[in-house]
Amino acid sequence: MKSIISILNVILCVLLLQPNASAEKQIRLEAMESNHQFPFFETQTAVWSYNGQIPGPLIRGKKGATLVIDFVNKLKEPTSIHWHGLRIDNAMDGVPGVTQDPVKPGENFGYRLRLEDAGTFWYHPHFNSSEQLGRGLKGVLIVDEVEKQPWSRDLVWLMDDWLLQKDGNIYPHFNTHHDLMHDGRWGNALTVNGKFKPEFVVKPGERIRLRLINGANARIFLPHLEGLSADVIAVDGKPVTQIFPLNQFELSPGNRIDLDITVPSNAGGKTYTVKDRLTRRQFVLASLKVSQSESVKTPDFAPPTAEKFIPAHVFENVAVSKTWDLNAFRGGQYGIAWAMNSKIWPEADKADYPLGVPQKIKFDNSSTRLHPMHIHGVFFRVLERNGQKAEEPFTRDTVLVGPRESVTIGFVPEHPGIWLTHCHIQSHAEAGMMTTVEVKK
Ligand code: C2O
Ligand code: CU
Repeated sequence: MKSIISILNVILCVLLLQPNASAEKQIRLEAMESNHQFPFFETQTAVWSYNGQIPGPLIRGKKGATLVIDFVNKLKEPTSIHWHGLRIDNAMDGVPGVTQDPVKPGENFGYRLRLEDAGTFWYHPHFNSSEQLGRGLKGVLIVDEVEKQPWSRDLVWLMDDWLLQKDGNIYPHFNTHHDLMHDGRWGNALTVNGKFKPEFVVKPGERIRLRLINGANARIFLPHLEGLSADVIAVDGKPVTQIFPLNQFELSPGNRIDLDITVPSNAGGKTYTVKDRLTRRQFVLASLKVSQSESVKTPDFAPPTAEKFIPAHVFENVAVSKTWDLNAFRGGQYGIAWAMNSKIWPEADKADYPLGVPQKIKFDNSSTRLHPMHIHGVFFRVLERNGQKAEEPFTRDTVLVGPRESVTIGFVPEHPGIWLTHCHIQSHAEAGMMTTVEVKK
């Protein structure tokens, strides 16, 4: 009898260990108070983090697989986790009041994420978001292609900024009058993966996939690679339809780009800096230090592209079904409300659409501030800016709408559910700039 049981056990184990694309991966995430060492202070800074890490653990899974995330809230206030950019079951989208109840202190929530798209994504809370993100809660989630990509190296840089006081503490006031009158909370310390100007050692000849994620509350990044040329191969978690050189790509909060970089084979000993060039005061974000070692053979291959993904002509005879005017007024719980069609969350002006029918939405910014508008659960294409045809060779999930600018986007609702739509400047969203797009079966 015993031996039969052990044979059965062996068979069971073999079955469970079978690698296959629809495999499940278990991950435990705990939101907690912890400490982080910034180089500017002698003492550590109190932060809020996932698993005590800044940034949170890098989560990776293969396209087609399912991530089973056991989330525990060890904070003193409710929270949730939203998986930015992932097209998943609406019930797993992590928006309190829309797709789930807030996860109370001491409680758990199980997220099941079936990974439909390969690319660069990230995760963060969707509750008291200015403060929870501002104190450090965020991490990167990468969905790998089914076929292993032949890059020499895959680098992941989560760009962030922190508003730190001289005493080493995080400035503890959020959604302030100042933040709401301007473009939200901009920090005074820029970090990459929680570090100040980190150096990444690479080898001559390497072909690198560099993934840049803007996880800041409000800051826009304009990354510039000094002395290196780079191609943009993916935007917001989706391969571009046509690869193009990185010139001036503004990453607003929420945006990601994947770059294809080749380190010249004669670059041994060189250091390339990556700077933020948004303002005249340039900041060094990080650098690539090329080792003196012998040059490696540069892999020769074409990165994936998504030529046919929701082509612009799908929207040719489609009328704009919703225009959202973006503006502020006096009122709301913070004294200044950020509104969409003069309404603030939760009394929002919502949209609802049938499954599979192409839609056009226009964001009309009548304010003089920035609004990176994000829609959960869809990839959309920018079709027009200020009434002029726009031709972006990629789709997005977040688009920056500049002062007095109007942007028309098109998308095909493919996933039923209620998808939050909001400005990704956290304090604007908290002050009301949120609504939903409901996709009905
Ligand atoms: Cu990063 Cu509601 O999203
Ligand atoms: Cu905004």
